[in-house]
Amino acid sequence: MSPQPQAAVGAPLSRVDGRLKVTGEALYSAEHDVDGAVHAVIVDSGIGRGRITSIDARAALAHPGVLRVISHRNTPELPYRDNSGSNNPPGRRLRVFQDDRVLFHGQPVAVVVATTLEAAQHGASLVKIRYDDEQPSTDLTKAEPGESTTYARGDADAAVRDAAVSLDLTYRTARNHHNPMEPHATIARWDGGRLTVWDKTQWVVGTQTELAAVFGLEMGAVRVISPFVGGGFGTGLRCWPHVVVAALAARETQRPVKLVLSRKQMYLGTGFRPSYEYRLRLGSDRRGRLTAAVHEMDAETSSYEQFTEGVLAAGQMLYSMPHVRQAYRTVPLDVNTPIWMRGPGFQTASFVIESAMDELAHELGVDPIELRIRNEPSEDEAKGVPFSTRRLRECFTVGAREFGWHRRNPRPRSRRDGDWLIGMGMATGVYDTVRAPAQARARLEADGTAVVEAASSDMGPGTYTSQAQVAADALGLTMRTVTFRLGDSRYPATPPHGGSMTMASVGSAVLDACDRLRRQAVILAIEDEESPLFGVAADDVVVRGGRLHVQGDPARGETYQRLLTRNNRSHLEAEGSFAPPSGPERHSFYAYNATFAEVAVDATLGLVRVRRILGVYDAGRIISPKLADSQALGGMVGGIGTALLEHTVTDHRDGRIVNANLADYLVPVNADIPDLKAIYLDGEDREADPLGVKGLGEVVMIGVAPAIANAVFNATGRRIRELPITAEALL
Ligand code: MOS
Repeated sequence: MSPQPQAAVGAPLSRVDGRLKVTGEALYSAEHDVDGAVHAVIVDSGIGRGRITSIDARAALAHPGVLRVISHRNTPELPYRDNSGSNNPPGRRLRVFQDDRVLFHGQPVAVVVATTLEAAQHGASLVKIRYDDEQPSTDLTKAEPGESTTYARGDADAAVRDAAVSLDLTYRTARNHHNPMEPHATIARWDGGRLTVWDKTQWVVGTQTELAAVFGLEMGAVRVISPFVGGGFGTGLRCWPHVVVAALAARETQRPVKLVLSRKQMYLGTGFRPSYEYRLRLGSDRRGRLTAAVHEMDAETSSYEQFTEGVLAAGQMLYSMPHVRQAYRTVPLDVNTPIWMRGPGFQTASFVIESAMDELAHELGVDPIELRIRNEPSEDEAKGVPFSTRRLRECFTVGAREFGWHRRNPRPRSRRDGDWLIGMGMATGVYDTVRAPAQARARLEADGTAVVEAASSDMGPGTYTSQAQVAADALGLTMRTVTFRLGDSRYPATPPHGGSMTMASVGSAVLDACDRLRRQAVILAIEDEESPLFGVAADDVVVRGGRLHVQGDPARGETYQRLLTRNNRSHLEAEGSFAPPSGPERHSFYAYNATFAEVAVDATLGLVRVRRILGVYDAGRIISPKLADSQALGGMVGGIGTALLEHTVTDHRDGRIVNANLADYLVPVNADIPDLKAIYLDGEDREADPLGVKGLGEVVMIGVAPAIANAVFNATGRRIRELPITAEALL
């Protein structure tokens, strides 16, 4: 087929759903008006580990409006079929109200259903539960490690020992919670044996699969609807217990049930970025050529599931070296199960590796960018295949120039501005280009408009807009005549909306569906004696503004509308799909960045203020530059949070999270956000996927924390190897 002119892709368009969002017309999960819905409020366990010995629901049931109190005492056995189709990690998932065990502080142990929210809330406070409690184990540094994942090439321990220069550094990173603006919420309704849920989720298909497994239903008997998601960062990647609670409560009361987690409950049952203790030993020669690295890390998981994330890849492929050994141990604790959070795994690994590279550069007296260039690999040394695209050198060059890196004095504490010590730092970021099978459907109406559908989600990156851009160009329509629909399990199946895979995966399926649809229209025209395109070769026809014409001869053609009407066709429809090639990969796929930060540190108070951040991205083709900027700047804000503020604190005496709210869990506010700038290297990655994208949502956050930590060192001469970097640590 002749390549379609690209008008929408690459244009800095505003969100097509922006108006709906700012006028409140976009409906989030709890806002759907479901007739006859009653309210459910979860009762959380008051202990960190043990057994429930009694539940006294009399006072709650006596409260006006309370309909039911449901707990393990009155819940029938639920099927809980095994399910590998919805991001459940290995282990035995938490089974809602199936026994008397308490596995972590704040576990759902009962639910109160009432006719009003207030009655349900008050009812929940009246449920009296007694426990037989045991001492929970929640301290990563004091617990026994469980499973481990390892990797080795060469003999890294010997090589580090024999290296001309070696470093032995231990880093700690805090537990982080996603804290999206919109809390998790579910409305569940049963119609006979069929279940419909309106749910905050990043994966309608995953939630559908899990609810079918839990309740023993056919997939087709469960429908999940989620047209708008008010932020996610990964918390919506699993179907958490509260979704099952809502569906169970609806089944037991025979009423539609609405359940909204409180801000506190957002910390109790919906996952988090696990904390790590990460020891890195590096060996290099005197010129800064790395010879070896030994990575040993412990990370939190729950006692009942073994959660792991991609924390190993960066250490295997980011820099060239013959010897690498890695051991990644998960430590089972009496906590709920972690989940991926923006830039999962790579974010943590990058903080450690990039901080250590800065230490090595300082030790050797080599510029940090120069050190990285000296260790650029010519291929992926773990997989033994070339990189599809890897343009880190350009990221460094462009970034150094735009940021004014030459103004950095490598000697710490050499720049001052009044009370403030000024420093500059940089780091590299890398994230996997994830692609997964996806499907889409496109339909062209006789009036010349089109509707494209895929299950997907849009947690904020602007999926409605970017997919419509792809569809508009492939169909030769304007943005106004294309509608993209998502967030419904009835639409063609898509992978999780996370891991930066949506544009590559869903976008490629949308492209395929629209290409097939356009082709149908073209064939209809060239085989129609009444069409001005009759007899033209299909490859010579392009479509622009809803009009098919001969390439190079715009006068010869007709509109979709005319073509379909004359042929008595109400519509044309096509299905499309995408799947990454199977078998061993012939290339190694990653997105990269160089991130630069300038900070000011109060010399007496230890306060850190970020002054500037610049990110330069090698992320393949940029479909939607304005949305890309929203992703990049948002990622930098997330990075500032991780670097300086975010820290979920557990009281190890009873396993309680002490700052389970948005006042004590610190996140950046406007005053914390300085001048942020994003630059994208032009180009595309044709090996990765038909759209040429490498994924952007994760890589923009990775590199920010180490760039800030390295800038803090340049400002103060102090190495802080623990996130977040606090004023206390700098005093
Ligand atoms: Mo994210 S961890 O890509 O939702």
